[in-house]
Amino acid sequence: MNILLLGSGGREHAYALYLSRSKKVSHLYIAPGNGGTDNCGTNINLNPLDFDSVNEFCLTHAVDVILPGNEDPLVAGIVDYFAEKNPSIKVAGPSKWCAQLEGSKSFSKKFMESHSIPTAAYKEVNQKNIVEGEQFLEKLTPPYVLKADGLAAGKGVLILDNLMEAKQELKLMIEEAKFGAASSTVVIEEFLKGIELSVFVVSDGETWKLLGSAKDYKRIGEGDTGLNTGGMGAISPVPFANDEFMKKVEQQVIVPTLDGLRSEGHPYKGILFIGLMNDAGNPSVVEYNVRMGDPETEAIFPRLKTDMGELIAAVVEGNLKEVELTYDERVAASVFLVSQGYPEAYEKGKEISIPSIENNVVLLQAGTKKQNNHLITNGGRVLSVTALEDTMQKAIDAAMKTAEKVTFTGKTYRRDIGQDLLKLKNG
Ligand code: AMP
Ligand code: GLY
Repeated sequence: MNILLLGSGGREHAYALYLSRSKKVSHLYIAPGNGGTDNCGTNINLNPLDFDSVNEFCLTHAVDVILPGNEDPLVAGIVDYFAEKNPSIKVAGPSKWCAQLEGSKSFSKKFMESHSIPTAAYKEVNQKNIVEGEQFLEKLTPPYVLKADGLAAGKGVLILDNLMEAKQELKLMIEEAKFGAASSTVVIEEFLKGIELSVFVVSDGETWKLLGSAKDYKRIGEGDTGLNTGGMGAISPVPFANDEFMKKVEQQVIVPTLDGLRSEGHPYKGILFIGLMNDAGNPSVVEYNVRMGDPETEAIFPRLKTDMGELIAAVVEGNLKEVELTYDERVAASVFLVSQGYPEAYEKGKEISIPSIENNVVLLQAGTKKQNNHLITNGGRVLSVTALEDTMQKAIDAAMKTAEKVTFTGKTYRRDIGQDLLKLKNG
């Protein structure tokens, strides 16, 4: 099987690494890839959103399966494009209809409402009902959650303490296009209390299996302070996602979601990322994403022992039932090393030096590229270090030890990844 993987982050390096070790995969292409994926297959200079060029590449290189790493090609309809244009090439991911779960907040809220899936109360607001939106805000207790309906590169969610400010931002989003066309419709949500976690499910349209749980660390600063980032680290599995909690997630969220999609005539194929709040042991859905998470993938995939090629083939061939998912029992702790200044302005082109690493550590690259045989920084999130150990404490210590040894000018990382979970566990 020849695979074309789309994307360039740490998640894609994780896919590429494990696909390159698969006995099912003959050739792996990555578009556009990064300095790490370059060691796992062939990086290709191709725009994943230019479907005609992707199709042409697949035809000339005998690609059997396309695997989109991020949501953009899925939300833009890559699955439907190939189903119509060239059905012999399979795309491992959900249809455009299903991808609305991530592509439109109002779509996903309506879907959850009609299938009785627990989630925050909400109101959809656009140019026509701003006054109703303001009245809804008045009924809520702070903080106030405002979400741009469409994709806004992870920036379209505002959480505000002040009612006046919330009303002002609502207007800015809708009337002044604060997040472009993405915020011409806004979803106002009740604020959910609790601890957040991400749960991942893989489905072939009929069968589904749990891929794992992870907690990610979104803020740039220690103690969850400062600006939001793409993610500064992750822990998997999540200790509070115990059997009792996961049973509720299965019964109240996973099954009604997948059955709901099927009952609406759109069975879900691919990976579904469910962002959840755990409030006193009860799950509530914060968001759906139609792909793996980044940095969660960097903590989840190193624990997965199942052949990655077999798993992806099962999704497109519809035989997930036959595939057994097996895991390393150890805990994974993952920390991202980022460029100084990120998530605001930062410099690129700093030379990276990687020490020899222990065999319980996996190094996955994101914002890197190779230049004249040197590895240099090429993005905000540069690379992640994942360590597997018997206990969370040991996994965190091992990840931090390696993080210290990698060098590049401006290297920045959070040293408190997982500390909140350790406290919860011990207290
Ligand atoms: P989303 O893109 O919908 O996942 O929102 C981004 C982040 O904002 C989430 O990961 C949460 O940390 C936070 N968030 C979103 N919606 C809510 C909510 N209703 N209550 C509390 N926090 C939220
Ligand atoms: N870790 C959050 C995301 O991938 O969207």
